Amino acid sequence: MTIQTQALPQSEIKDPLEEHLQQLLPSTDSAPQALHRAMWHAVFPSGKRVRPRLLLTVAEACAADTAEKDLAMHAACAIELIHSASLVHDDLPCFDDASMRRGHPTVHKVYGEAMAVLAGDALLTRAFEILADAPPRLARRALRIVRLLAQATGSQDGIIGGQSLEQVPARGSKAPTLPMAPELLGRYHAMKTAALFRVAAAAGATAAGATDADAWGEVGQNLGLAFQLADDLCDAFGRADVAGKPVRRDVALGRPNAAALVGERSSRARMNELLSHALEQTRALAVDPTPLVRLIDDLSGHFLKTTK
Ligand code: IPE
Ligand code: IPE
Ligand code: MG
Ligand code: MG
Repeated sequence: MTIQTQALPQSEIKDPLEEHLQQLLPSTDSAPQALHRAMWHAVFPSGKRVRPRLLLTVAEACAADTAEKDLAMHAACAIELIHSASLVHDDLPCFDDASMRRGHPTVHKVYGEAMAVLAGDALLTRAFEILADAPPRLARRALRIVRLLAQATGSQDGIIGGQSLEQVPARGSKAPTLPMAPELLGRYHAMKTAALFRVAAAAGATAAGATDADAWGEVGQNLGLAFQLADDLCDAFGRADVAGKPVRRDVALGRPNAAALVGERSSRARMNELLSHALEQTRALAVDPTPLVRLIDDLSGHFLKTTK
């Protein structure tokens, strides 16, 4: 695929991650234009970019050198494209039927359902293509990251498998699903959300050549589980204008929600416990924990804002 850089409004070019994402997406001037426009719409305007920032910050915490940071940036862009693809598909009428995302109309609202399915598919394949273009000297590490990302996306332990769990009794109907057993909730959150956080942290460490990538994966897993608890609390108690997406959808669609299944207090307590644990682990593992501690603090501030 020929990649052409496309200019964005200045306000969108915030930092190297935004610039790389911009360069790595196919130009909206190249054919098939409608598909490429739908792909851009899925990635810009940006969301919080939590997963790629986690990846880059862990690479920094593991003292990555210049080439290793380059590999980390490839992996960070790949992970954001996978995440964006998952949102495009999650918002479709056959899933959560959402009309707003990141404060803007969803991809299928603007480009139609068929184009949204294809844009999600194309973002997924582009993500893996990006990793194949990683620095040749670090090809073995890039290959390890490809495997991690494929697993976090896939059917057995990843997003696609997690999304399938909420469909089991529903059979595509909009009627409420049978309640999910609370013991399955952890697995559902782990697959649909925490798997990508786990891999973000593990991939950052792998890019930097760290030998404790699995331990870093645990940090990511704890952050990802806290993140989905916060998202469930946001859906149950938050405001659409603060979240940039609809709220109260889980009840309307019969989706499993932690606040409904195990209660608000218990969800908040668990969320805070997971964040504290991630902070402790970061302090124990990092060469320089400061940037990651700051990112975790930012996340917890965001949770406070969006869950009430
Ligand atoms: C939303 O993820 C989907 C969940 C897993 C809860 P984010 O809240 O990271 O979405 P953006 O990328 O910031 O829009
Ligand atoms: C989305 O979960 C997780 C994905 C894998 C896309 P939700 O459906 O709970 O997230 P939002 O609330 O739409 O962002
Ligand atoms: Mg969903
Ligand atoms: Mg949703």
